[in-house]
Amino acid sequence: MPTNPPRTTWLEISHSALTNNVRQLRSLLTPATQLMAVVKANAYGHGAAETSRIIQRAGADRFAVATLGEAIELRAAGIERPILVLGYTPAWQAAEALAHDVTLTVLDLETATAFSSAAAAQDALLRVHVKANTGMNRLGVRPDAVPSFMAALRALPGIAVEGIFTHFATSDETDKQHAENQFAVFQQMLAALARDGLRPPVAHAANSAALLTMPHTHLDLARSGIALYGLDPDMDQCTLPPGFEPALAWKAMVTQVAELAPGEAVSYGREFIAERPMRVAVLPMGYADGFPRRPFNWGNVLLRGMPAPILGRVCMDQTVVDVTAIEAATGPVRLGDEAVIIGRQGEAAISAEAASQRVGTNNYDIVSRILARVPRLYVE
Ligand SMILES: Cc1ncc(COP(=O)(O)O)c(C=O)c1O
Repeated sequence: MPTNPPRTTWLEISHSALTNNVRQLRSLLTPATQLMAVVKANAYGHGAAETSRIIQRAGADRFAVATLGEAIELRAAGIERPILVLGYTPAWQAAEALAHDVTLTVLDLETATAFSSAAAAQDALLRVHVKANTGMNRLGVRPDAVPSFMAALRALPGIAVEGIFTHFATSDETDKQHAENQFAVFQQMLAALARDGLRPPVAHAANSAALLTMPHTHLDLARSGIALYGLDPDMDQCTLPPGFEPALAWKAMVTQVAELAPGEAVSYGREFIAERPMRVAVLPMGYADGFPRRPFNWGNVLLRGMPAPILGRVCMDQTVVDVTAIEAATGPVRLGDEAVIIGRQGEAAISAEAASQRVGTNNYDIVSRILARVPRLYVE
């Protein structure tokens, strides 16, 4: 347990795990491919500012976020390397992007023209990357429209087209057919652009799964999020190779231990009713910390290296667990004992992947939903 944590539930983010994961990813890339660290959504819950500083020191070449606000947060945290906003940025944020030297994604000529006016008004150059839709069918310019879009961008004053990228829908699946089709479309597009002298210097496609399993897609730059944090791109079909380490643990202190008599119920709605005398512990985290309430919760947390089942409804800031069996095996549970919500305790572990399975989601969702009010403590 850390000394006097700012709250009685906290995350421990491992500096050495993050550094190690950056090096592992780097070792899978040739020196010709840059590594872009995807640190959107508060660095997938790991805390954007400090996590990005650690990743920058470990050698990531660039950063990516979802919004301009996230990019500005990184600049305020001392991130000096290039930052790309992956999502749509509205024209009214162009001046702010220029002020913070942030690279924007462009998807349509109307917004790009407004970016151009904003840049030209300041006699500045706004760096942009074009996003091409090769089959994810989310954001992006259709491949047949890319050459004319690129040519139109070239004519806009104040706009420097540095990159072009696409995003895979299924690179984390065993069957790579759709991802390979997407990549073939992207390659053909790059060749056509090159023929016309329009290929930007930085072409990129790979996410973590493609970085790990489709090395021919690395191109000039690979964008990695989930693997940086030591988490599997897909827990069944695309697990990390040995050598990566999960960087995040979620812990809490027992804040009360109590008796439950037969017939007494726990929490809102009295969903759990004791059938025998029980001992229960209260933990100070709940759904407003990102610990899900419905339709499922984790099922149990760890105390003394054993599973402590969650009883009744998870509340906004409190969760009650059964410690009857744990006390029978190890003696009284006390105020101040440490519980593990994600991570290891003794021989036992609850991974973000295992938690996601119980909740019916993925590990991305589990870690990125942990709210900012849970303090992040950076440990060795
Ligand atoms: C456009 C884009 N590139 C890269 C990533 C990183 O993906 P991953 O975390 O699977 O590496 C994301 C994340 O969703 C993304 O939206």
